[in-house]
Formats: sequence, C-alpha cells, structure tokens
Amino acid sequence: MLTLNVNAKSRQYKINIKRGILEKLGDHIKLLYKGKRLLVITDTNVSRLYKEKIDRTLSEYFKVDFIEVEPGESSKSFKTMEICCEKLAQLNITRSDLIVAFGGGVVGDLAGFISATYLRGVDFIQVPTTLLSQVDSSVGGKVAINLESGKNLVGNFYQPKAVFIDPDLLSTLDEKYFSDGMAEVIKYGCIRDEKLFNNLKECTDINKIIEEIIYTCCEIKADVVGEDELDKGIRMILNFGHTIGHGIEKVFDYKKYSHGEAVAIGMYVISKNSEKLGLTKMGTADEIKNLLEKYNLSYELPVVEEKNLIDAIKKDKKRTGEYLKIILLKEIGNCYIKKIKSDEIKNYI
Ligand SMILES: NC(=O)c1ccc[n+]([C@@H]2O[C@H](COP(=O)([O-])OP(=O)(O)OC[C@H]3O[C@@H](n4cnc5c(N)ncnc54)[C@H](O)[C@@H]3O)[C@@H](O)[C@H]2O)c1
Ligand SMILES: [Zn+2]
Repeated sequence: MLTLNVNAKSRQYKINIKRGILEKLGDHIKLLYKGKRLLVITDTNVSRLYKEKIDRTLSEYFKVDFIEVEPGESSKSFKTMEICCEKLAQLNITRSDLIVAFGGGVVGDLAGFISATYLRGVDFIQVPTTLLSQVDSSVGGKVAINLESGKNLVGNFYQPKAVFIDPDLLSTLDEKYFSDGMAEVIKYGCIRDEKLFNNLKECTDINKIIEEIIYTCCEIKADVVGEDELDKGIRMILNFGHTIGHGIEKVFDYKKYSHGEAVAIGMYVISKNSEKLGLTKMGTADEIKNLLEKYNLSYELPVVEEKNLIDAIKKDKKRTGEYLKIILLKEIGNCYIKKIKSDEIKNYI
C-alpha cells in the first residue's frame, strides 16, 4: 500500500492508495474509528456497481446505512443537502458516528459539506471513485455545494479523517471522465513535476502505472495544502489553467465543456500566450498540446465572443478587487503566481 500524510493545520491524516483496497475497507476503517455506525453517502451509479462490495466489508464491523443521491452536478445543491440531512436526523446519526463519502467529486463535495455542517461537524472519510476525485477533490478539505449564481459558492474547509483510494474502481469509469481527470494529472506535471510530465509522455499504457501516478499527484497536492490549507497563497498554483478554464465552462453554461476539458484548453492557451510575452520558455505550450492530444483532450480555444469570455473570467471568485492572480509556467515543472490588472487578461487569451 502507498501511503501519504497530509499535514494540514486543522488536521493530519493519511491517504492510502492500493488496488483492491475497497474489499478490505472495513479492516482499515476499524483501525481509525472506534464507533459502531457508518453512514455511506454515494450516488446511484456508484451504488449500482459497488454497493454490495462496500456493504460486505463494512458490515463485518459496523452497522451501515446508505444514502444515494442522483449522479451529477445538480446534486451539489441545498435541496439535496436538506434531503440528506433530514435522513441523517431520521437515522439518528450523532456526532460520534462516521460518514463515508463514496463517489466522485460531486459526492465528495456534498458529503463533505454535510459532514462539516450537520450537528456542527461529524467526522468523514473520503473513498473517491473517479480519477478526478482520486487525484484532486478528495484531498485538501475543500467541500461545497453550488448556487444558481455559481459553482461551489457555499462551502467550507473541512478535512477528512482519512482518504482511501482504490485505482481498480477506475475500470468502470467512462472514458470521458477518465480524460477529465487526466487534465488535472497533466496539470500537476506542468506546475511541479517534470518527471511526472515525462512519464506521461513516454508511457504506453497509463493503466499499468496509474497507482504511482495517483500517488505522485496526491503527494503534490498534500504538499501544497500542508503549506497553505486555506488557499491564501501557494495553493493557488493548483489553479494553473483554471482561470481561462472556468471562463470557458461558464460561457458555455457548464454544458459543452467539462471541467477537465476546459482546464486542458486553459493550460495550453495561457502558456502559448505567456510564451509570446516572453514569460515562458519557448516550446512549452507545444509540449502541453502534445500531451493533451495523447490523452484525448482538446487544446484550442473554442470560437467565442472575446468580451463574453473576459467578462466570465473577471467574475471568477478567485479575483481580488481590480486584480487577478494567474498561474504561469517558467517551463514544464516550474510555475509561479503573477498578479495582473483584470483587464490585462486579454493578453493571455
Ligand atoms: N473539493 C475540491 O477540491 C474539488 C476539486 C476539483 C473538483 N471538485 C468538484 O468535483 C466535481 C466533479 O467530480 P467528478 O469529475 O468526479 O464527477 P462526478 O462525481 O459527477 O462523477 C462523474 C460520473 O462518474 C460516475 N462514477 C463515479 N465513479 C464511478 C466509477 N468508479 N465507475 C463508473 N462510474 C462512476 C458518477 O456517477 C458520475 O456520473 C465537481 O462538482 C467539482 O466542483 C472539487
Ligand atoms: Zn480543477
């Protein structure tokens, strides 16, 4: 088993990565939780595929209840949260019980936010089931739901008690969701790890090395979160490609481009333009482009009214007043934060 420590100020915990770990989840949870009850929050897709398996291992030691939500972004809502919290209350879940978030980023964010707020905080464990959630959303403690006005606008920083990652679960994941996660994997290589970038370039079968890849990504995220849990400084580097990416997602009303697809374009476009401005080593954007293509991700900015895209970017919640902080690469594996006037973003798209 590969393990990693996350040393966030509010809580220290372990990320455990192992093929097939789901089947032994009960044994692992038993070591860090002395209570008797578990409440698993999942979505109906994940439940259909894995409920029996997770129930079998957890029921060896605990009384287990399940809450299943509809798959998809719309479940990150006050409505779904309210329904879930009512169920928790009906089931008499107390502060000494444990919640298990079993699903992709949607389930992780929703179950995490419920855990952070129900009875003012119940411990929870992340068992992420998509590549994106295994390399990104399950680590670092950002939990949230959406508003009509925008994504992730209501949330908290609330670290899990542990994260258990089973790469075997990815075998049932739709290819498009796998590619989505690959955009974040490529991002980690770009900002911090040239070796990871080169491994991705050279490998002929990603599935064979996926366990190490997930470990490396989690290691980078854990390192950054350990330094800046509350996203006031260095954690911003995880936003490479996201400023333009969020703009693209928003302009197309979150329908045409998934998060990973939009981030992929964002990483290429910002690097191409920062090369032109002499801020990034020549050839970097092409390297990114080649890797994105290899993992079935597009890189070209879609046809879009420039003003609309700029407006969408300027509304990003990461903006501070008249300024935007963007992440640029010096070269692959080496990034920095640059503060620009909001209007200057047009030079980067
Ligand atoms: N908290 C954070 O730090 C953070 C970071 C990045 C993204 N996010 C959030 O993550 C969410 C996206 O997460 P996601 O990409 O995992 O999407 P998701 O949770 O919607 O999962 C994608 C789809 O795959 C299905 N699925 C999940 N696991 C499966 C499996 N093993 N086999 C087959 N199907 C499976 C789901 O039912 C769903 O239909 C967004 O809401 C985003 O805001 C949060
Ligand atoms: Zn992202």
